[in-house]
Amino acid sequence: MSADITDPDTYEQGIPHATFAAMRRTEPVALRMHEGRPYWAVTRYEDLVTVTRDPDTFSSATGMTNLWDLPQEAMDARRSIIDTDPPEHVRLRKLGIPAFTGRKVRNYEEATRAIAAELLDEAITARDVDVVQAIAAPLPIRVIVDILGVPKEDADYMVELSDHLVSGGENLSPNAYGNTTPLELLPFNSPAAFGLFEYGRKLGEERRVDPHDDLVTTLIQSEVDGDHLSDTEYANMFQVLVFAGNETTRTAISNGINAFIENPDQLELLHSSPGLVEQAVEEIIRYATPVLHMRRTATKDTTLAGVEISKGDKIVIWYASANFDETVFENPLSFDITRPVRPKMVSFGAQGPHNCLGAPLARLEIRILLEEIVRRGVRFESAGSIVRTRSNFVNGVASLPARLIT
Ligand code: HEM
Repeated sequence: MSADITDPDTYEQGIPHATFAAMRRTEPVALRMHEGRPYWAVTRYEDLVTVTRDPDTFSSATGMTNLWDLPQEAMDARRSIIDTDPPEHVRLRKLGIPAFTGRKVRNYEEATRAIAAELLDEAITARDVDVVQAIAAPLPIRVIVDILGVPKEDADYMVELSDHLVSGGENLSPNAYGNTTPLELLPFNSPAAFGLFEYGRKLGEERRVDPHDDLVTTLIQSEVDGDHLSDTEYANMFQVLVFAGNETTRTAISNGINAFIENPDQLELLHSSPGLVEQAVEEIIRYATPVLHMRRTATKDTTLAGVEISKGDKIVIWYASANFDETVFENPLSFDITRPVRPKMVSFGAQGPHNCLGAPLARLEIRILLEEIVRRGVRFESAGSIVRTRSNFVNGVASLPARLIT
């Protein structure tokens, strides 16, 4: 039986690998329906790469990158770097990149290690934990808050805002956090997005008069040929950095630890050969595929894998399928930390212009967590069933009960 690949219920059982495999084999560019509207589902690695690397034909701006359609007014209000095309995208990307250069990211290593070590030590002491609550959720948000330069006393407020964002602002009044914007104009329809934007704006104002050695100051001072981010662009970028790197990295870590629980031999291998850590990071991110898909819109009539696509058509590229394409990855369903890192997994995009800006940071966080796991000789045992998030966008884990053994 084939699964509905856009039904959030489907993903409570995990990625529907059998359905994607059948689609890759028989109908790699398939016409499917979502909420009464047709879209092209792209499932093969090769075709996903083609779409990703051709922004002239496959636009991120026209219909934005969400599966669902939004009114133009909502798109204009919500648009961040990820939903732009050249030349606007080239400009934002150049101004955002200084925050993620190799040197900058290396500077984040120490802070990240301290946070990972503290979380692991607490979890080892507790012994029986929910891995999501104890490690996977707090690590990315605490790292990003730290490197953005959010004062310690506000860190919990950031965590609260980002948790509300992830849950779509459930249980919040529309006016929470002083919000006056109609919810449909806010990312995730959540007043927490407003709170985050406002907080970022105020912190930016402070750093303008009193620069620090932090990511907010880097963004504010970022300059390319005399051009800067406007106040709104900067606050948007602040907001994106908090939410784009949060749920995604959390998902990679939860699925990664679950993969070690299900494949204890792979964790033993890492303990005995810590030199495999970089490969393990790539394999965790491939196997987890935290972002299931992105959307593009055709700017002209074209063909993809022999299928005719018309201007205006919606195209959905499924990382959740391409990362398991058997013509590219041997035994794609097995979790194997010795897997060669090339060909590259596509969880961060496929080296197209929008390739994840935070990829070096996400890799750093996962590598450091693994190094600290190895340093402490930690093993994981299942202490209950994994509960997956009901989402067709993020391959999320709501709960992962486990016992830590050292
Ligand atoms: C394992 C964790 C992560 C995954 C799987 C992930 C995945 C992605 C994907 C699939 C894209 C879109 C690529 C495209 O459209 O071609 C993207 C873009 C982006 N990501 Fe990530 N991401 C992760 C972590 C992060 C982190 C830690 C940050 C920042 C703190 C971040 C910031 C961004 C930004 C700003 C963009 C937009 C780039 C652009 O449009 O030029 N991401 N990410």
